[in-house]
Amino acid sequence: MDAPANNLSVSPANAGGSAGLTRTIALMNQKGGVGKTTTTVNLAAALAGEGRRTLLIDLDPQAHATLHLGIEPGDAPSVYDALLEPASAGEAVREARANLDLLPAVVDLAAAEPELAPAPDRNRRLSMALAPLLSRYEFVLMDCPPSLGLLTLNALAAAREVIIPMQAHFLALQGVGRLMETVRVVGQTVNPRLRISGVILCMHEETSRHTREVVADLDAFFDQARETDLPWRSARVFRPPIRRNIKLAEAPSFGQTIMEYAPTAPGAADYRLLAQALIKEWDGLKSRRGSAAEVVVPTAKAGAGARAG
Ligand SMILES: Nc1ncnc2c1ncn2[C@@H]1O[C@H](COP(=O)(O)OP(=O)(O)O)[C@@H](O)[C@H]1O
Ligand SMILES: [Mg+2]
Repeated sequence: MDAPANNLSVSPANAGGSAGLTRTIALMNQKGGVGKTTTTVNLAAALAGEGRRTLLIDLDPQAHATLHLGIEPGDAPSVYDALLEPASAGEAVREARANLDLLPAVVDLAAAEPELAPAPDRNRRLSMALAPLLSRYEFVLMDCPPSLGLLTLNALAAAREVIIPMQAHFLALQGVGRLMETVRVVGQTVNPRLRISGVILCMHEETSRHTREVVADLDAFFDQARETDLPWRSARVFRPPIRRNIKLAEAPSFGQTIMEYAPTAPGAADYRLLAQALIKEWDGLKSRRGSAAEVVVPTAKAGAGARAG
């Protein structure tokens, strides 16, 4: 059952009918340098810090998320092996922190695309790999490369939700419109249930009037979609935005999350609040779940449900 005006749903965590429930999120934006990896790593760490079992999947051959967690992409099994041999995915999962596991990337990951290309199930490899693992996690966050190749398609096929990290600059609205349309078209082929749940504003300069205007435009853009059947009909601008904070840029070179590197920095506070907002929304959804195999509930308008504090 999939009511048209909703975007979040609770799905059985695995085909085996486990009691666990998992929120699977692809963090995607075809543009590079917008904050995808920073957000995936620090949001995952913040979710784990709140005691939620979280899996981070690094799908970018640059392996930035893997490195950010202080793990050298070496010869150990990786997401590359998981894509080529989905049944072996469990062997590639590493314990990165308490409550935080990592399916790491390797540089060779770029080679997975041409290797997978002839396979008829090439878009579904990650879904197949994840199916037996999902019951271990409450959140699965996928860091996508800045392209729409097979790696990103696998993420979109395996996810229930897309979250778009972006910056509130003057071209943002145009970019978001195009990106939403891309997800809609791709979703139709690889994953018709895929929903865009919103955007996370990264490197945010809240004092700029221009920024505030762009955020207002984004809110309006999402509001216009409410009564449609578009995949972003329940999307919103997640609050709080992530402020520009140099500590967030420094942390990766120490192989540390922001919670480890600078726990009192604004960047740590923002990701913690964002994690708490996502958890609150998710817990509310689960508690309203009932006995149905899948329950879908409306998402609050324009970020109210996701606003922290
Ligand atoms: N809120 C922020 N404040 C300051 N620097 C940031 C912030 N978010 C990301 N960065 C920096 O911006 C650059 C691009 O971010 P990154 O997360 O790698 O983007 P993407 O994964 O989309 O390419 C990196 O150097 C990162 O450290
Ligand atoms: Mg990245």
